[in-house]
Amino acid sequence: MSHDMSDDKLPEAHASEGHGDLAVAENPFADPGLPAHQPRRTDIDERAAKRAERQVSLMFVISMLATVGFIASYASIDADRIVYIFPLGHVSALNFALGMTLGVALFCIGAGAVHWARTLMSDVEMPAERHPIEADDEVRADVIEQFKTGAAESGFGRRKMIRNTMIGSMALVPLAGVVLLRDLGPLPEKKLIHTGWVEATANQPIRLINMNTDEPMKAEDISVGSLTFAKPGPSAQRPEGLQESDEDFQQAIAKDALMLIRLQPEDIKDDKSRQLGFEGVLAYSKICTHVGCPISLYEQQTHHALCPCHQSTFDLSDGARVIFGPAGHPLPQLKITTDADGFLVATEDFAEPVGPSFWERRA
Ligand code: FES
Repeated sequence: MSHDMSDDKLPEAHASEGHGDLAVAENPFADPGLPAHQPRRTDIDERAAKRAERQVSLMFVISMLATVGFIASYASIDADRIVYIFPLGHVSALNFALGMTLGVALFCIGAGAVHWARTLMSDVEMPAERHPIEADDEVRADVIEQFKTGAAESGFGRRKMIRNTMIGSMALVPLAGVVLLRDLGPLPEKKLIHTGWVEATANQPIRLINMNTDEPMKAEDISVGSLTFAKPGPSAQRPEGLQESDEDFQQAIAKDALMLIRLQPEDIKDDKSRQLGFEGVLAYSKICTHVGCPISLYEQQTHHALCPCHQSTFDLSDGARVIFGPAGHPLPQLKITTDADGFLVATEDFAEPVGPSFWERRA
């Protein structure tokens, strides 16, 4: 391998114009320095600078319009509408409009910033000498001075049209993300607080339906020591009662499911719990108050119900008090009685939300 160190290969011509040490044959690795600064057209022609300013502002304005277009597209274009767009073929009109408008909004902010930096901000090269990492007071003061100089040279304060349009475009573009939150669906309103039993009243009670037999139940159908699961029977909203064929069955049963036990009245420790039940039959929510697993394990000697997910244990003889595990609340209990035909019915909803604690529960 040969090393050609002849003088005509050294960067002497550049070094003579720059700021570094002259590179000579004795020291070919010397800093060749920077080429002489060439002013841009916008540096010497105020009309060109004004034109560039308008171009930058135009891009920020286009970004603002594109963001407004994004929101308008989201609000006005049917999600099922398909259009033909060459060369993409058949595409969702909504997705295409959202993608295009958001793309243009973001692109114009970036393009405007780049154009601003390339045409109007100072482009004078300044070599930075190496220095100890820890800055002394003098260096800090110098940095602050340079920052102020940079801010002044960027024209951020002086070129108000650019500054204002840039702030406008950057303030608007996050709205695109806010609008998309609508895709999370309608607000739950009071659905998190109530269950399917909410329609039950003293005049229009809802029967408890055995989930295995799909039949209404009487108190004598439930033997002491057994565990029975129940769901809501016919109501004004569901004349057939809750059925597996219902479109929203999974969501509904995840809140409405009941766990029925029967205790000897003297074994019920909690007075309120006894009053909510009927002749020793107690109806608790089957949904664990930790993170919502369905409870299905019952120990008849101790009257403990065990959640299989994280082993929360509830004492069903004592108002479903938590005696072990991570659950933070007792299982809600449904008030039950019987109708004129002797079937078990509910006359009101649970007094508190069922399932996992969400935010601060009300009761
Ligand atoms: S869901 Fe029941 S203990 Fe965690």
